[in-house]
Amino acid sequence: MCGIIGYIGDREANDILIAGLERLEYRGYDSAGVATIHNNSLCINKKEGRVQNLKELPKLSGNVGIAHTRWSTHGKPSDRNAHPFTDNTNSFTLVHNGIIENYLELKAGLQEAGVNFTSDTDSEVIVHLIAKAYIGNLKEAVLKVVNYLQGSFALCVINKDSDEIIGARNGSPLLVGLGDNENFLASDASAIIEHTKKVIYVNDFEVVGVKKDSVNIYDFNGNEKPKEIKTINWDLEQAQKSGYKHFMLKEIYEQPKVIEDSMQINFNEMLNTGANFNRIIIVACGTASYAGLVGKYVIEKVAKVPVINEIASEFRYKECLINENDLVIAISQSGETADTLAAIRLAKQKGAKTLGLINVVDSTIAREVDDVVYTRAGPEIGVASTKAFTSQLITLYKLAFHLIGEEFQFDVEKIKQALLLNESIRKLAKKYYQSTNFLYIGRNLSFPLALEGALKLKEISYIHAEAYPAGELKHGPIALVSEEMPTVAICPRDSVYEKTFSNIEEIKARSGKVITIATSGDEKIKKVSDDVIYIPEVQEILYPLIVAIPLQLFAYHVADLRDCDVDKPRNLAKSVTVE
Ligand code: M6R
Repeated sequence: MCGIIGYIGDREANDILIAGLERLEYRGYDSAGVATIHNNSLCINKKEGRVQNLKELPKLSGNVGIAHTRWSTHGKPSDRNAHPFTDNTNSFTLVHNGIIENYLELKAGLQEAGVNFTSDTDSEVIVHLIAKAYIGNLKEAVLKVVNYLQGSFALCVINKDSDEIIGARNGSPLLVGLGDNENFLASDASAIIEHTKKVIYVNDFEVVGVKKDSVNIYDFNGNEKPKEIKTINWDLEQAQKSGYKHFMLKEIYEQPKVIEDSMQINFNEMLNTGANFNRIIIVACGTASYAGLVGKYVIEKVAKVPVINEIASEFRYKECLINENDLVIAISQSGETADTLAAIRLAKQKGAKTLGLINVVDSTIAREVDDVVYTRAGPEIGVASTKAFTSQLITLYKLAFHLIGEEFQFDVEKIKQALLLNESIRKLAKKYYQSTNFLYIGRNLSFPLALEGALKLKEISYIHAEAYPAGELKHGPIALVSEEMPTVAICPRDSVYEKTFSNIEEIKARSGKVITIATSGDEKIKKVSDDVIYIPEVQEILYPLIVAIPLQLFAYHVADLRDCDVDKPRNLAKSVTVE
C-alpha cells in the first residue's frame, strides 16, 4: 500500500505534491512526507498522521519533489518512520511503496559498512544502497540497486544536484503523468488527474527517468523501451465528494448510474456460449470475494457450470490443481491487490485461461489477464467498497446469462427504491449504534450478503460483526445470542424463506434482538423481528443487488453516528498491494 508521487517542472512542487497525496490517502494514512530540491539541497517535511499535518508546516521551495503517504508494514506509525528517507550525506531522498523482504540482510551489510539508520523501516535500505552505488548517474545507481531488492516496490528517488526523478517498479503500481513542460510520477492517476490525463503505465521490472521535458523507460538491464501513452477516461469531479459528507455515501448513491453503466458490458469470444472450459475458479479478496460468492450461486444456477470460490491469499499457497481446462476469474476493484495478482499469475503458469473483472482501467491485473472486462463503477475512493461491489455483481449476472446465450435483465428502479430507505435506516442506526457485537445471517444467495454486511459494519464502525449461514447458527454461534447481540437477518421472500424464518424464531426464543431485511408486504415477518427493513420485491436471483443497499446504509450510518472516519477507517487502505 502507501501512495507515492513526484513532480518536476516550473511550478512550486510542494502544493502539487500535497494535493496529490490527499488523493492518494486512501492508500494509507499513518504518516506523510514531502521532499524538494532547493538551491542544490534537499528540503524535507514529514509527520506522523494525515497529510493535513504537512499543510501546517512551512512550505518547501523547489520545482522538483517527491512525496509519500504511508500504510505501515515495518515499523510503527511515527515521524521517525515517515518517508521520504535520506542517505547519510543528505544527497539522496526516496519514497517507497511495497515491502523489501531481504531488508534485514541488506541492512546488516550496510551497517557493517558504517551506514547509520534513522528508521525501523524496510524502505530505508534502498536509499543507502543507491547512495553507495552512485557514481555520477542516478539512473545507473537505481538500475544496480533494483537487482539486489527482493519483494515489491514502486519508488521515486531524487538527488540534490539532479534535474530528474528516477522511478522504478516491481510489483507495486506506478505511472508517469505527462504535462506541458512538467511531468509527474504517481501510484495512481487520481493524484495527478487535475494536471494531466495523459499517462504512461510503468510495468514491472522497469526503471523510468523523468525530466520536465522528457520521459525515458528502461528495463532492469538498462535497455531503453518504447513508451505507450494512454488517456485517462474519467475526470477530477468524479474523485470529489460533490456535497456528500463522505465518499462512501456519495458512492452508495451512485449505484443506479453505475448499474446502468455496468449493464452495457459486453463479453467477447472467450466467454461465448459453449466456451472451452470445464469449470470456473473465482479468485478475489474481501468484498470482491463476496461478490464472487454471489457469482458462484448465480453461475451455477443459471449456466450450470461448476464454480469454485477461492480467497486469493489462500489459493496462492495451496496445492494448485487447476489446468488448461479451467477458467480462472479474478475480481478486483483496484486491479492491484497483491494476492489476487499472485493467484492470476499462478493460474497462468498452470495453463488456465484467465479473465479479470476489474474496475481500474489498465491496472496491473487488468494488464496481466488473458482477457479483461471492466466493471464500470468509476473511481471508488471510500475504503469500504460499495458501488464497486454492485458493479461486480452485475458483471457476474451478465456473465452467467451470457454463458447460456441470454441477455440479463434488471430494472434499476428497484435500486432507486432501495435508496429511499436512507432516512429510516438512519433512525434504525440511532437505535443500535452503541451495540458492540452483531450477528449477520442469511441462506443461499443471502449468505454472501450477510458476509458483506458484516464486513461493511466492522471495517468502518469497528463493531465486532460475524456472519453465518442461517442454518449454521445451531452448530455453535447461537450460544452468542443474547439481548446485547443484535442479529441482522436477511430473509427476503425466496425459496428458503421459511427456513430462515425458523432460524429467526430460534433467535427470538433466546431473547435476541432481530433486524430483518424482508420483502415489502411481508407482514408475517414482523412477528419475529424487532425491526424490519422492507426492500422492493424482485425475482429471487436478484435479491443480492437490492439487499446490498440497506446493508451499506446501515453500516454507514452506524459508523457516522459513532464519529468514525468513514472513508479512511483505521488500519486499512483501499489498495492492498502487500501480502
Ligand atoms: O481492490 P480489490 O477489490 O481487489 O480489494 C479487495 C479488498 O481489499 C476490498 O474489497 C476490501 O475488503 C474492502 N475494504 C471492503 O470494503
